[in-house]
Amino acid sequence: MPQPLNVAIVGCGNIAGPYAETLQPYDHITLLGAADVDPARAAAFVAKYGGTAYESLDALLADPRVDVVINLTIHHAHPEVITRCLEAGKHVHSEKPLAMTVAEAQALVQLAEARGLRLSCAPITYMGEAQQTVWRLIRDGQLGTVRVVYAEVNWGRIETWHPNPPPFYDVGALFDVGVYPLTLVTTMFGAARRVTAFGRVLYPDRVTLDGTPFHITTPDFVVAVVEMADGTVVRLTTNFYVPYGTRQQGLEFHGDLGSVILGSFQNFDAPVSFARFGEPFAPVEPVRPAYPGTEWVLAVVEMGEAIEAGRPQRATGAQAAHVVEICCAISESLQQGRPVDVGSSVPRPAPMDWA
Ligand SMILES: NC(=O)c1ccc[n+]([C@@H]2O[C@H](COP(=O)([O-])OP(=O)(O)OC[C@H]3O[C@@H](n4cnc5c(N)ncnc54)[C@H](O)[C@@H]3O)[C@@H](O)[C@H]2O)c1
Repeated sequence: MPQPLNVAIVGCGNIAGPYAETLQPYDHITLLGAADVDPARAAAFVAKYGGTAYESLDALLADPRVDVVINLTIHHAHPEVITRCLEAGKHVHSEKPLAMTVAEAQALVQLAEARGLRLSCAPITYMGEAQQTVWRLIRDGQLGTVRVVYAEVNWGRIETWHPNPPPFYDVGALFDVGVYPLTLVTTMFGAARRVTAFGRVLYPDRVTLDGTPFHITTPDFVVAVVEMADGTVVRLTTNFYVPYGTRQQGLEFHGDLGSVILGSFQNFDAPVSFARFGEPFAPVEPVRPAYPGTEWVLAVVEMGEAIEAGRPQRATGAQAAHVVEICCAISESLQQGRPVDVGSSVPRPAPMDWA
């Protein structure tokens, strides 16, 4: 039986339910409760998933039983919320992006290090069975040297399903969903070194589900070429326009000997297929039976195991900070029309033990 772990959630919006649901099978992890700037949301959340509705984040942080805070607040709130949690002595797992600037992201990493606390950040979908299966094929040399990755995030239109789309459009498709394939490729290939990007607002005037018009100014369409330090070239497409159901979705990895297609950057049970160069693609069985969908809370589970074993956890703030730096470089490149260098290094998570 693993060591008990007590967690609490801050931010009880759209993604809080999937986190609570994916937590349920783990008997050793207790959800102590939740907080939100809107107390009614925290109350509704604990009525469904249990625990205390803390009246504020301060009240949550004052609970000495809380080991890990899961930060599911909206994008722009992340640096301030994470800082408060770390300063209160709590380990943190945060939703993405870690921050919107390199300075803020690095400050969070340094604060966690200085306090001897764990900081992890989504996306963690490289932990999925399909994603680990692809990585295993690459590590086993089945593709030979991988020289090209195509990464497609055609994420449709957030306002057609999410009740609060403006924050997603404030940060734009790159910082909201571009971070998924960027985390996957930095996991598999290491640091990025240079980016060249194009981006613009394709569809500026949108309408929320309740009929309120809103106008966006951050690009909803970004294409970037990301040159990795090891020579791999990644072509990234990320947008809030083209429907999710397009044929162009997921990642393709192309090497000297073969290619592999990963059907989704986030679904752990995504289809994977492989072909030797010049031969037809055939499905590949996952390295173990796949979790259906995305196991959102897996980084928290893994962090608990790492705390117990006294080893580093896989998902790190430092990797998320490198991804933030790539996104900032892409933003600068598309504004200035020139390539932009990426300077930081990146810690790479180990493959999962079962892969
Ligand atoms: N919705 C999804 O499908 C999805 C998927 C993956 C990741 N995410 C990430 O999860 C995060 C939250 O997304 P969401 O869709 O749940 O948003 P949401 O708007 O539905 O919920 C955010 C919640 O955070 C609360 N909040 C905002 N600032 C706060 C603060 N300073 N202190 C306490 N509470 C605060 C809001 O009141 C709201 O209840 C984002 O970072 C997003 O990138 C969302």
